[in-house]
Parts: sequence; structure tokens; C-alpha cells
Amino acid sequence: MNGAILDLAVAIPHHYVSHEELARARDVEVDKYQQGLGCEEMAICGPGEDTVTLAAEAAWRLFEHHPEARERVGLCVVGTESGVDAAKPVAIYVHRLLGLPPNCRAFEVKHACYGATAALQMASAWVQQHPKRLALVIASDIARYERGSAGEPTQGAGAVAMLVGKAEERDALLQLSPISGAFASDVYDFWRPPYQSEALVKGKYSMNCYLEGLQGAYEDYCRQAGDEPTPDYLLYHVPFPAMARKAHRRMSDLRGLSEDLYLDDLERRVEPALWANRKIGNVYSGSLYLALAGLCERKGAHLIGRRVALFSYGSGSCSEYFTGRFGEGIYRFHRHLHSVLEARTEVDVDQYELLHDASLKMERNHSFQPALPHQGQAFTFLGIRDHERCYRQNFAEDAVALSNARPTALHHTRPFQRA
Ligand code: HMG
Repeated sequence: MNGAILDLAVAIPHHYVSHEELARARDVEVDKYQQGLGCEEMAICGPGEDTVTLAAEAAWRLFEHHPEARERVGLCVVGTESGVDAAKPVAIYVHRLLGLPPNCRAFEVKHACYGATAALQMASAWVQQHPKRLALVIASDIARYERGSAGEPTQGAGAVAMLVGKAEERDALLQLSPISGAFASDVYDFWRPPYQSEALVKGKYSMNCYLEGLQGAYEDYCRQAGDEPTPDYLLYHVPFPAMARKAHRRMSDLRGLSEDLYLDDLERRVEPALWANRKIGNVYSGSLYLALAGLCERKGAHLIGRRVALFSYGSGSCSEYFTGRFGEGIYRFHRHLHSVLEARTEVDVDQYELLHDASLKMERNHSFQPALPHQGQAFTFLGIRDHERCYRQNFAEDAVALSNARPTALHHTRPFQRA
């Protein structure tokens, strides 16, 4: 048996801009963003938020509901393409901020939006050898394109944390199947050289690469799985929701479905997962798992016993198509997506640009500033001092900036309660 996702949780930035506002400011018809791309709102990171705080916040939310699980974590992997350091992984900051056990492997995996899937598959295999321990897999990213570029409306940010373990099939939230199809191809469709803070992309070409990856991975899966019943739901990597529609169109063509049947199938098996992606935007490595969380929140216990297919695409490129079955672990899932979306503050385009610039400035040395946390924010990025990143745990009674801390001091974190 393969590993299982036992539970998952999402964290998103505290600000967003609507695509209606953005379209007005960029002199674009709003239908292009809302209908053509399928986007409604876009999450914006402010200066106190980065890939680390988002990752830690998502995991913190998980442990809030499973405090006993923290001590059992023996593998902590962050899939990200917006890491904060070329050497030091996001996972080790998370390890410290959450007070995870010292006997733990902590590292980062990068392959564009595919990194978290590679991490999840690795964790799923790892828990077979360590059945008493748990793996924490986090997808955390900030999607940034140049202002005014075609990619701008497809930005976003967020993190999804998943607790992975060995479970009886009934007890899993999602029992992963051991079969998976893969497809790799060296392409320059989307990339970010080290001297760029925003990604470079060949938009239309990237969509073709994605569809080629989908077909390649799906065909590889079919060769291994033979005649399996069609899954009840299909989750695709979601750079923007209309891309999931295009992906499903390709899958329907492969199955020879007519236009009418495709539209009906899209409504039934794909759309229920996309609502949160419409309001958050591209979360790169987290987009697929945000769709999974969206489906769990919308469908709840109805999912028990149902099969889902997941398609992960990372530019550059690597694709994977795999499946899983929902179990009664779905009752563990704490429906929190609506409340975190409602807790956000809407900003206009001028404020979005200020936040965007302010968060980029925080990436320079000597940017340290004692910032106030947002309402409910568990961790704040305080900037960089002497080339070291500083964070604050807002939930601790005597919240202090964590910089230059000695490793021995790190495991004295209090139980997880907000201040
Ligand atoms: P664009 O050229 O500005 O948009 O960029 P367009 O002209 O192609 O229009 C988009 C859609 O809106 C089209 O629909 C238009 O017809 C429609 P389609 O023909 O494709 O079905 N449209 C309208 N609809 C209604 N009313 C209107 C209207 N006007 C136009 N008035 C593009 C679009 C996606 C290329 C751009 O946003 C971009 O470059 N985005 C970033 C790249 C990207 O997301 N690629 C996706 C595949 S690669 C991937 O998923 C990996 C990634 O996540 C990174 C990673 O792996 O790390 C990106």
C-alpha cells in the first residue's frame, strides 16, 4: 500500500485585488480576465509575508487540529520555486518556527510547480519504511510576473501543508495509488534566472507544453493501470482556472467525448474544485493541492469512497498523473478556506503595486523592521539583518524576533495557541 494524505491546510496572504479592478487599471475588458482566464481575485503578499511565513502558517494550521502529530514528524519537505535562499531551504525555517523534532529530515524540492508533487511521492514512499512517523509536505509559493505583462493577472500566492502517513484505506483523507504516469521534457516555457525576481514566460507556448505533458503523463499512467474506471473527480494544475478547462478538453479529446458531453463532464468532475483557485490565483507548486482543498471543503463527506485523478505540471518541464481514493479521514479536514478568504483585506491597484514593491524591498539586506502582524497571522517576516532572515512567532506570549537564535533554544515553543 502507498502512503496517504491524512489531512491538509491552506494559508494565503492577507490582501487581494479583484480582477475587475485590475482590468480597469490595465484597460482590458474585464471578461478577458473573468471569462477568458477564469480569475476573480488575486492574492497579494505584503512585506511581512514570504514563502516561509506562508508555509509555516499552513503547517501551523494543521497542527492546531493535530497537536499530537508534531512530535511524530520525521520528514519535512517544502516544494517551492520561490525559495528564499540559494542554499538554506525554506523547510529548515519551518522546522524551527514550528518546533519540529530534531530527528527529522528537512529540505526543499524545486521543479517549478511540480516540486510539491515530487515531495509528496517521496513522502508517500518514506512512510512505508517509517510507519510510526509522519511526513510534513508543504507547497509554498509566490507567483510574480512583471507589472503590465500578459502574466500579471495570473499571479497569486499561498501554501498548502499536507500531513502524510501510513493509514488504513478507510482512515485516510486521500489514499494515494502506487501507480503514476510521468513525462519529462526540457523546454524553456517558464523560468526565473537567479538575477530576476519575476518569472519569464512564453505564455502560449507554456500552455502547449502543459498539454503535451498532460497527454504524455496520462498515456504513461494508462499503460500501467489498464482498464480502470474513470475517476469521480479530476484535479489539474491551475495556473489560471481556464487552463484546467483546456486540460480537460484535451483529456476529453483523448477519450473521444463530444463537446456537449465534455461540458457536462467539466461541470461535474472538474469545476467543483476550482472555486478557491479563482479567488487566490496561481500558487505554483500549491495550485493543484489548493484545488484538492477546495474540493474537500465543497464536497466534504460526499467524497468518501470516491476516486480522484491529479495532474501536476511543472514548467521546464515535468508532469505526473496519479490517482487516489478518499476515505473517512475527510472528517479530519477542518473547513477553513471560506473563513481565511473572508478574513482578507481588499486593496486597489495602487495599493497592490505598493505592496508588491514593498515585499520585494524586504528581500534586501538591512531591510529589518519591527512590523505589526495582521489579525490572525501566526508568523511575520521582519526582514533581513546581517544577511539573516528574521521571523516572529506571533502566537507566543512573549513573541520575539527569531534571528541568530541558537539551535538549542528552538524546541521550547509553547503549545499552539494564538496569542
Ligand atoms: P494573453 O495573451 O494576454 O491572453 O495571455 P489571450 O489573448 O490568449 O486571452 C486569454 C483568453 O481570454 C483567450 O481564451 C481569449 O479568447 C479570451 P482562449 O482562446 O485561450 O480560450 N478573451 C476573452 N474572453 C472573453 N471576453 C473577452 C476576451 N478577450 C480575450 N473580452 C496567458 C494569456 C495565459 C498566455 C498569460 O496570462 C500568461 O502568460 N500567463 C502565465 C503563463 C501561464 O500561466 N501558462 C500556463 C501553462 S504553464 C504552467 O502552468 C506552469 C506555471 O504554473 C509555472 C510553473 O510550472 O512553475 C505557469
